Amino acid sequence: MNTLTAGTIAGEFHARRVYGLKREVLRLVEEVIDDGVFHGGRRIRELEVVAGERWGGHAVGTSSGTMALETAVRALGIGAGDEVIMPALTFVSTAFAVAAAGAVPVFVDIDARTRTIDPTAVAAAVTPRTRAVIPVHIHGLMADMTAIRALADRHALAVIEDCAQAAGATDRGRPAGSVGDIGCFSMWVGKNLGGLADGGLLLAREAALLPLLRKLTDLGRDGERNTHHLRGSRGRMGEIDAAVIRHQLDLLPDWIDRRRTLADRYADAFTALPVVTPTDAPGRPHTYYKYPLTLPDPATATALATHLGRTGITTEQVYPHAVPDQPALREIIHRTTDITVTLDVLPRTVCLPLAPELTDAEADRVIEAVHGFLTPRV
Ligand SMILES: Cc1ncc(COP(=O)(O)O)c(C=O)c1O
Repeated sequence: MNTLTAGTIAGEFHARRVYGLKREVLRLVEEVIDDGVFHGGRRIRELEVVAGERWGGHAVGTSSGTMALETAVRALGIGAGDEVIMPALTFVSTAFAVAAAGAVPVFVDIDARTRTIDPTAVAAAVTPRTRAVIPVHIHGLMADMTAIRALADRHALAVIEDCAQAAGATDRGRPAGSVGDIGCFSMWVGKNLGGLADGGLLLAREAALLPLLRKLTDLGRDGERNTHHLRGSRGRMGEIDAAVIRHQLDLLPDWIDRRRTLADRYADAFTALPVVTPTDAPGRPHTYYKYPLTLPDPATATALATHLGRTGITTEQVYPHAVPDQPALREIIHRTTDITVTLDVLPRTVCLPLAPELTDAEADRVIEAVHGFLTPRV
């Protein structure tokens, strides 16, 4: 079967997931073809309604998470000269979206234990030009939204949640995307909830934002084909992806449970090792989009990854570089505050394979291989 090469364990499992859903996916594709409606039909509407109901907001499907972020920044009127605070540990799209609007990304540090944006660092970075903050729910764990929301309200800042890695996560029972003004999801095939290639979703707290979000993602149109009210993007989601994502939305809670079971299995197995395992934060259960293991130093992390690679187990670094260290940031006006924790933690990280499709036997092989490298020999 496709990417399942005997004896190897992949770092990412979406090929196996889509393969497992093949019959259902083919049925959905066939239905869309039979209907002959590829955009703006009943499947995208249903996905938007159900996602909005489940996650507490008003949803608009997009072509990617990047598009969702760009649209959110524009919809909130953020533009030239405005500053937007975000963590240094994120995917580049968070910063690119802000830069695309002519605004200035301001990078702040993360909390060492949770790897989510440090609210104290956000407070210290606020200036009279600050317009918004983008907490990123990294690796499937929500940022401390109580602290961020309170801080934002105190300084009259907008809050855009980057939920790309955290569909289905919660903070004190509140779903990712429902606490900020707008939540932005990625539904890239490899995310916890994904379509067949790229996709995304905007979740607005206020229904009043919906018409603008729709226009911005449909070339400025308002339902009428040949009238463009503003310079929008070609940013909508198609019917096939909407159908596949809608189908997976019902499977997501069980998939998250399975991720948590596997994470427990790893954590139990690693208690005696010199590693820090990812875990829940108070009121914020982890959904383990990634399983970042923190090693004592960068050399040990690199050596572990090499050792696992030799035994056929693929690992990832997610991410090897802080965003302000990316070459593209040389072209972007930005500001970086003290990001000591981010720079310390990233090179000491190895993300182990973890997905609902990982079998217990494969997880045990990973555990054995980690032990084989880290358990001291007596
Ligand atoms: C934190 C974060 N933000 C934004 C994105 C962008 O999403 P997409 O790849 O769907 O454009 C991603 C995913 O790649 C992400 O992980």
